[in-house]
Amino acid sequence: MPQVYNWQLGRKMEYPYEERHPKSQFAFVFNTNRCIACQTCTMACKSTWTFGKGQEAMWWNNVETKPYGGYPQFWDIKTLKLLDDAHQKAGATMGWEAGKQGPSKPYGEYSGMTLFEAARQRYGPEGHQRVLGYIPTDEEWRFPNIYEDTSTAYQGGRLGISTEGASLPEHKSWFFYLQRLCNHCTYPACLAACPRKAIYKRPEDGIVLIDQERCRGYRACVEACPYKKPMYRPTTRVSEKCVACYPRIEGTDPLSEGVPMETRCMAACVGKIRMQGLVKTNPDGSWVEDRQHPLYYMVKIEKVALPLYPQFGTEPNGYYIPPRWVPRPYLRQMFGPGVDEAIEKYTAPSRELLAVMQLFRTTQKMLSRYEITQGPKVYETTVNGKPWAMYNDTVIGYDARGREAVRVTVEEPVHVRPAQYANSI
Ligand code: SF4
Ligand code: SF4
Ligand code: SF4
Ligand code: F3S
Repeated sequence: MPQVYNWQLGRKMEYPYEERHPKSQFAFVFNTNRCIACQTCTMACKSTWTFGKGQEAMWWNNVETKPYGGYPQFWDIKTLKLLDDAHQKAGATMGWEAGKQGPSKPYGEYSGMTLFEAARQRYGPEGHQRVLGYIPTDEEWRFPNIYEDTSTAYQGGRLGISTEGASLPEHKSWFFYLQRLCNHCTYPACLAACPRKAIYKRPEDGIVLIDQERCRGYRACVEACPYKKPMYRPTTRVSEKCVACYPRIEGTDPLSEGVPMETRCMAACVGKIRMQGLVKTNPDGSWVEDRQHPLYYMVKIEKVALPLYPQFGTEPNGYYIPPRWVPRPYLRQMFGPGVDEAIEKYTAPSRELLAVMQLFRTTQKMLSRYEITQGPKVYETTVNGKPWAMYNDTVIGYDARGREAVRVTVEEPVHVRPAQYANSI
């Protein structure tokens, strides 16, 4: 099987196809600390793409309550269990060698097996599987956010409220919201598994699509995707998945004025937790150095945003700023070994990070570059025993054509309404 380089794992891994990379890659950063689970994103996607017959249980975007919730139910627990069983059978462990950190391996090196590698141990009548996976039952697809707001302190009873207090850095009773859509993976498991070669990754932007003409509903993609984002439609008997709102990415949506625009689920986010963009990639799949790109800065420079279950091996292109109050072992399992550094950076953000985070959801245009103009110091305190200061800097975001798309300050401006307009705007 060909060997491909997965930078999130810091090593080469097995993948059924030779390495080939798009010119740029659809990517996004979500700040889990800010999400209010309003599901506006979920409904923005549903009302655009999946309101038809046969799509009733189809939620390309969903927001689920961790640790108990999941759509489909138990998707991550079941996949982790399969991977764990494979390691136990092989006498191997799923670990990371943090000491091997370097420019091409920001999180160190993953020493366990990916879902592609672990699949080689599961032989069936037609040889080994391409990707370790399973097909969820119909019941498991019923709820986009089952166990909504259920915390680990739930003891049963009428409200199940915890009597224990909570304090940072970790809470004893906790839950958090995980926002999910297709990660338009660099090494898509869905694409690897499809026997019809009906799934392709676009060379211009890395968006992963299912060709509706070629698909015959074999559901190997549903089985293989660890994030469970391809979904079968019984009325058409083919599978469908997030299309990354491609007319907006292409700039062909009437609203987008010819430049890439953020997708429906991103642009609708009420909590301002989402930022999306296209990152330029080198022929070897690494990201082109682009210091002033907000996503490059957050993922590669600050390392405040991390991939979801990198150990699965698909190199997902969604990145998450982890929640601050959740027990670290749980978070390390979910986002890899970069968790502690990411939370530290987020808790006491650098002057630049604080400014960049103001750009979330300030414009529907996709931002390609930012600049910061320095402002005065407005606040001083200590965070975790260290001095920390806030500056009222101005951050300016530019669209793909280099035009100014947004300009915001770190401190929200205060507008005093004149007395004669007290009850109007
Ligand atoms: Fe395919 Fe799943 Fe990755 Fe999306 S998240 S590209 S469906 S493997
Ligand atoms: Fe739906 Fe578009 Fe978001 Fe994909 S990117 S989940 S198609 S709204
Ligand atoms: Fe969270 Fe934003 Fe979605 Fe609301 S719209 S659930 S805040 S990601
Ligand atoms: Fe292939 Fe999935 Fe269709 S495996 S044939 S894309 S249902």
